[in-house]
Amino acid sequence: MEAPSKYSDYNRIQRRDAQFILNEYEERMQWRKDGTDTVLDVGCGTGDLTIDIILTQMPKKFGKLVGVDISQEIIEYAKRTHQRENIYFEVLDIESDDDDIQRFSKKHPDRFDHVMSFYCLHWVRNQTKAVKNIYNLLKLNGHCLLVLLVKNPIYNIYTELSKTKWKYLMSDMDDLLTDFHSRGNAAAAMVEMLTVAGFKDHEVRIIPGKMEFTGYNEIKANVTVINPVWLKMNAEEQNEYLKDYLDIAAGMGIYKEADDQSESTFSFSYQLLNVHAAK
Ligand SMILES: C[S@@+](CC[C@H](N)C(=O)[O-])C[C@H]1O[C@@H](n2cnc3c(N)ncnc32)[C@H](O)[C@@H]1O
Repeated sequence: MEAPSKYSDYNRIQRRDAQFILNEYEERMQWRKDGTDTVLDVGCGTGDLTIDIILTQMPKKFGKLVGVDISQEIIEYAKRTHQRENIYFEVLDIESDDDDIQRFSKKHPDRFDHVMSFYCLHWVRNQTKAVKNIYNLLKLNGHCLLVLLVKNPIYNIYTELSKTKWKYLMSDMDDLLTDFHSRGNAAAAMVEMLTVAGFKDHEVRIIPGKMEFTGYNEIKANVTVINPVWLKMNAEEQNEYLKDYLDIAAGMGIYKEADDQSESTFSFSYQLLNVHAAK
């Protein structure tokens, strides 16, 4: 991922989707009446969405809000920018083995009433483990609300790029392609993971979405800011890579270059998987 501050500038789609889903679940969040709710945001990134969207949806009085992310750099940024009373940011890999989860749990022995995760779990390789860890981090009767990408044509662009001279950068496609992308029925796969983990009630649904970016600068930012290989290239390679990326996107009909670059468009449909489950 690019510099944390840059990600903050270009996560409007994630914010829009998180807000939409939180609004939908507003009535069913089962906030505690005593103002002691504890909330964990898995894959919190910069913490902007944690604060601007999750916190604003929570009761004014709450126990604590903890954001975790695998990236030390991004957690440092989140701490500097957002840490304050009852709001903490910590490094945690959600697919860690039990020892790491237990170490984290020791700091939070009462576990969490709510675990949320937006736009993170598609980066995780062992999703079964991640779902089990989320289950273990919840209190009994706690709820999780998860949102992850399951279909996105950007994965097809990565696949095409990996067949070209960029193969050397993209050899480990498992890092780039969500497990769900190649699965026929992502919702059924998720239901199985939730059942194996021990969740008693769950609602799993697919939500269609559309991303639209206009103008070369916004398009470039969105292509590069979450691209896992972007920072592995020098400036000259980045220019060539971007050109090849957009040529493939044009071939797929999702990138339309205009004579006036500020009118170029990059737009495509995608699918989110949304889970609401109770322990
Ligand atoms: C696209 S960002 C989403 C950030 C934020 N939730 C949002 O919606 O704006 C995905 C985040 O997931 C984090 N991530 C990826 N794999 C992870 C893992 N195994 N455990 C915890 N965080 C992870 C990344 O470091 C990144 O910050």
